[in-house]
Amino acid sequence: MRPSYGLQGRAAVVTGATRGIGHAVARELAAAGARVCVTARDADEVRRTAAELGGVGAAGSVADPDHLRAVVDLTLREFGRIDVIVNNAATNLPYGPLMDVDPLAWREAFTVNVEAPLRLVQCAWQAWMHEHGGAVINVCTEGAGHVGPDIGAYGTSKAALLHLTQQLAGELAPKVRVNSVSPGLVRTEMARFVWEPGEEEVAAGLPLGRIGEPEDVARAVVWLASDAAQWVTGADLLVDGGTRVRAARALTSRGTPTPGGTGLCRHATPPRGRDQPPTTRSLPPT
Ligand SMILES: NC(=O)c1ccc[n+]([C@@H]2O[C@H](COP(=O)([O-])OP(=O)(O)OC[C@H]3O[C@@H](n4cnc5c(N)ncnc54)[C@H](OP(=O)(O)O)[C@@H]3O)[C@@H](O)[C@H]2O)c1
Repeated sequence: MRPSYGLQGRAAVVTGATRGIGHAVARELAAAGARVCVTARDADEVRRTAAELGGVGAAGSVADPDHLRAVVDLTLREFGRIDVIVNNAATNLPYGPLMDVDPLAWREAFTVNVEAPLRLVQCAWQAWMHEHGGAVINVCTEGAGHVGPDIGAYGTSKAALLHLTQQLAGELAPKVRVNSVSPGLVRTEMARFVWEPGEEEVAAGLPLGRIGEPEDVARAVVWLASDAAQWVTGADLLVDGGTRVRAARALTSRGTPTPGGTGLCRHATPPRGRDQPPTTRSLPPT
């Protein structure tokens, strides 16, 4: 049986919750007894997910401020409260060297990855949290602390989200706790082109010997949302299978040199028009 950590009866909003990490987060929150409001752009998927989890859903892009207001209104109308916000929806477009980046595409990355989380927290704060308190969890990335090829817009925006997390943590305390979770490479659609072609090789380069599953990240988010983390704010919880400490592991358990995972990443080509995997730079250096 899962611990409810005091989440029973609380209300949570999870953006980008129809698949991948967001879906696992919404599922784990619901399993802990929370009522969930899920979002994504695909309306059919939102309906399906809301029904699956016994919650409610709102279809739209987090880039649209009206959609974010509607999400908060819906949650308050349906559940009468809004205790947890999980800012999970993101884009890692535009892909490529920054000298070639279209400024409008760059702006869109910041709108989705940084401005939307702030706007959603502003709405929830004004409508409920400033009086009743709550918890915010922003999904960043292990790679936010590094630079890497072709993902400059994504990395810069996620680094900004990390900073925003800490700024809000200071500003909104003690009523609202604000933390982030930074995943390494996780088995989701967004990252499929990184892990699918050479999962075994990538896993062998990680201290914990496997890539992440969405549930690995979801459990960390649920803990941060819960009363078990009541004295934790402004923290970034790495959930990366040891990616950050892999440099200390020069040899594999078989005594052969660790395969270079980024070689794989550098040559991986994402499907055209799709979001790119956010963890390219978090894989082992060649
Ligand atoms: N997977 C990894 O390896 C990894 C590593 C580090 C960090 N992360 C972070 O984890 C989070 C989730 O990523 P994921 O890998 O689970 O992605 P995913 O499998 O592609 O799922 C993304 C979810 O967000 C929704 N979404 C995308 N853009 C949206 C928008 N503008 N407005 C509202 N919803 C939107 C998608 O549904 P629709 O397409 O229908 O909108 C979907 O439900 C992201 O913040 C990502 O940066 C992932």
